[in-house]
Amino acid sequence: MSFDANLAGMPSSARPTALRGPALTFTGDPFRDGLERTLVHEPDAIVAMQDGRITHFGPAARVAPLLPAGTEIRDFGKDALISAGFIDTHVHFPQTTMIASHGAQLLDWLDRYTFPAELKFADRVHTRRVARAFLRENLRNGITTSCVYCSVHAHSADILFEEAEALGLRLAAGKVLMDRNAPEALRDNVQTGYDDSLALIRKWHGRGRLLYAITPRFAGTSSPEQLAAAGALWRNHPDCLMQTHIAETQAEVAWISELFPDRANYLDVYDHHGLCGRGAVFGHGIWLGDDELRRLHAADAAISHCPTSNFFLGSGLFDIARAKQADRPVRVGLGTDIGAGTSFSILQTLNEAYKAAQLNRHPLSAAHAYYLATRGSAAAMHLEDKVGSIAPGMEADLVVLDMRSTPLIAFRMDEARDFAEQLFIQMILGDDRAVRATYVAGRLAHDR
Ligand code: GUN
Ligand code: ZN
Repeated sequence: MSFDANLAGMPSSARPTALRGPALTFTGDPFRDGLERTLVHEPDAIVAMQDGRITHFGPAARVAPLLPAGTEIRDFGKDALISAGFIDTHVHFPQTTMIASHGAQLLDWLDRYTFPAELKFADRVHTRRVARAFLRENLRNGITTSCVYCSVHAHSADILFEEAEALGLRLAAGKVLMDRNAPEALRDNVQTGYDDSLALIRKWHGRGRLLYAITPRFAGTSSPEQLAAAGALWRNHPDCLMQTHIAETQAEVAWISELFPDRANYLDVYDHHGLCGRGAVFGHGIWLGDDELRRLHAADAAISHCPTSNFFLGSGLFDIARAKQADRPVRVGLGTDIGAGTSFSILQTLNEAYKAAQLNRHPLSAAHAYYLATRGSAAAMHLEDKVGSIAPGMEADLVVLDMRSTPLIAFRMDEARDFAEQLFIQMILGDDRAVRATYVAGRLAHDR
């Protein structure tokens, strides 16, 4: 896939600027190659950037003499941590309005809370207000790229793309395709869903840093004909992403097998309609069988792990160690899944990912968790050559964490014995207060 970004004309840093402080990044996948070969921790680093890209990265003593004259250096001090911006591979921006809705599991929750909230996106003024609030929350939490479900309304994608473009964000999004099992006013049909998605692809895909994600909500709300149309659209535009939900709850899996009795399993429903391949991001995947995981590996498709959502809806425990099994590893990214998810904070999402792993008896190391939040999620979207790590040539999307953001964290950090422990403290105790600054294409986009 080629997502060649044209950063020219985007809001970005024209002047060379640099950040100084401790830094963490990954050069590869620690699940596959181990931390020794992939983790880079630089206790006193300089990250320099110009025209939206990273130009230099390394120990301050080595990099400082190489910087162009006039480079402005912002020193965050030793209690900071500079990382690639966080990436959210599964989120519904309209659901910012109904996060924290009580008492239902997935299918009831959709009917009782989600669809009524999404109906309000017929109104463009409401849509823009929510899109702005959503992107503001992302930046407050250090999220610089996300893969976003809009509502069924084509203008919901237009408006989100307009707002993301104004901020210079690299973001993927798509209008939801949904032609059955939803309120009449939230349904498109095979033709309008196809035509609207095609028009959005032509307008937005590859414009600046924006990408289109073809978005059949899930097999429960798309007819076989709509899934086939989505598959045809993806075949004609293979460098788009494709996102949908899969195997989130047992009741959903049972319902899908009733709706598609001829298919071997849930993934086969999508595969049969041309919706399993490179660039597919499947939300949840808790209840996938080994055959399905093998097929995802072979297709180079990804799963978005959404732990706060899975606990909130009582959906189940995603087993990341199983998904990463060495003979058929699947690309796995991290998702907030707002509004079933309960936090925009990626640190809090990692906290819950750790607990899910604990309950599966495969404790997740802090470093593996930060990989998931950055380069791993970039890889889930096949963007690891653009974002998700700190290296010259990469797009300059960065988050700077304050490692002493609350009295308790500061107190606990004084007892930390090593860097791994410091990282773990942040992901268990930290939240939006830990995000000191967020940079988008080299430009300061949030400063606490
Ligand atoms: N499955 C289909 N639609 C949705 C949604 O909006 N949220 C979640 N968590 N699961 C879904
Ligand atoms: Zn979702």
